Amino acid sequence: MPDLFSTIIGSPVARRVGVPQPTRLRRFDPELPLCDSPVLVAGNGHYAASLVDWLDSHGITTLRELPSAATASDGSAEPARLGGFVLDLSEARDPGDLDVLRVIGAPALKSLARNARVVVIGTDPTTLSEVAHVATQRALEGAVRSIAKELRRGATANLVLAQESSSEGVRSAVEFLLSGRSAYVDGQVIRVNDRTGSNPDSARPLARKVAVVTGAARGIGAEIARVMARDGATVVAVDVPAAGDALAAVANEIRGTALQVDVTAADAGSRIVEHAVTRHGAIDIVVHNAGITRDKLLANMDESRWGSVMAVNLRSILQMNEAILGAGGMPDGGRIVCVASIAGIAGNRGQTNYGASKAGVIGIVDALSAQLASRGITVNAVAPGFIETEMTARVPFATREIGRRMNSLQQGGTPIDVAETIAWLAQPGSAAVTGQVVRVCGQSLLGA
Ligand code: NAI
Repeated sequence: MPDLFSTIIGSPVARRVGVPQPTRLRRFDPELPLCDSPVLVAGNGHYAASLVDWLDSHGITTLRELPSAATASDGSAEPARLGGFVLDLSEARDPGDLDVLRVIGAPALKSLARNARVVVIGTDPTTLSEVAHVATQRALEGAVRSIAKELRRGATANLVLAQESSSEGVRSAVEFLLSGRSAYVDGQVIRVNDRTGSNPDSARPLARKVAVVTGAARGIGAEIARVMARDGATVVAVDVPAAGDALAAVANEIRGTALQVDVTAADAGSRIVEHAVTRHGAIDIVVHNAGITRDKLLANMDESRWGSVMAVNLRSILQMNEAILGAGGMPDGGRIVCVASIAGIAGNRGQTNYGASKAGVIGIVDALSAQLASRGITVNAVAPGFIETEMTARVPFATREIGRRMNSLQQGGTPIDVAETIAWLAQPGSAAVTGQVVRVCGQSLLGA
């Protein structure tokens, strides 16, 4: 959605005078390989060797060390360009072990291709007890978030924290982070546990799954519905009756079904379960995306602004989950993904109601993920940053430009970036990821 400002800074004149240009991000394309340049897999942790085997079996060229220089076809020496750099530091236990970040990391970062991915693997410090071990692993978070801020040209850096024997979870997270699906996920820490799960069909990871997406008539919700359908799911698209035409258009486009229901209605959850089960036989995945803003400084906040935001963004999820998780609802192994916001992490002026509701959503993820672990149901959230939608197009010019540029990727994200992350969390292969809030924000300085 280019506006006047984006058109001006992208103009030939602006380029000639050196105005910084955001890099066109590499996004997921089912026709393209996971990564089209070699991936350097370094470090001596638990996971490096099996990741090399896995990448090799998927036709990705892997390197165990960085060649000093590759010889270009014209005979001149030029550094080899890396599509990815995976550094396994899961066994680092002493601060001295972190020097590997510098020794291997420095030349590797200089060799990254445009849109490359840096993925560091560590051990979840909460599973360790020795103070020095915890300190060493905790240090990785600061290192990786800083690396992400140093990278340019669309490259990202993220940290995967594993527990002992989290092999499948690590593989799933590394696959996501190397792929175009994670284009706008930067500077994040994703924890994986030791649950096992895999995608029976890697080309269509959501095949034979029934997914309910609320707020699916437009914006991010419509894109979530499209991406999930592309990945094989049968989608129930839910939105308010007033959005009925747009909702029907989305449902028809993706060969799903439309359900007109206001998520704040007392019977919304039971109607969703009834529709999904009678029409499609199950309810495997629920994406709580419907949300509204009614911004006002708290000093001027009226009851209706406060109440409506709380009702749609927070209370409705609590209410719907009761029916969805009750008898005849979601079976074991299901997936719940909520849409929070970085406003729920950092707060935002004029958004006390919205920030509270979205922080509450994170609370749901914390508590419910623990409660449902024994049923193998995962509960996660994404927290979008500045995403180019109708909602953000209405934000006043100056605020909009600050939101759009103040992140490490120097641009806004797109609804598809949020949708890809949600679709990954919904995969059977993401069984090891629960209780997480993944920010899809290009490492926004807000809430950093
Ligand atoms: P949007 O306003 O374009 O779409 C929201 C959809 O939810 C609409 O189709 C609307 O009809 C539906 N909806 C609203 N109230 C409903 C209700 N009571 N029952 C059923 N459906 C209802 O918003 P957008 O931008 O697509 O946002 C989607 C989600 O992402 C929201 O939860 C929002 O808070 C969140 N978000 C968006 C960000 C952005 O930059 N656009 C940033 C952070 C979070």
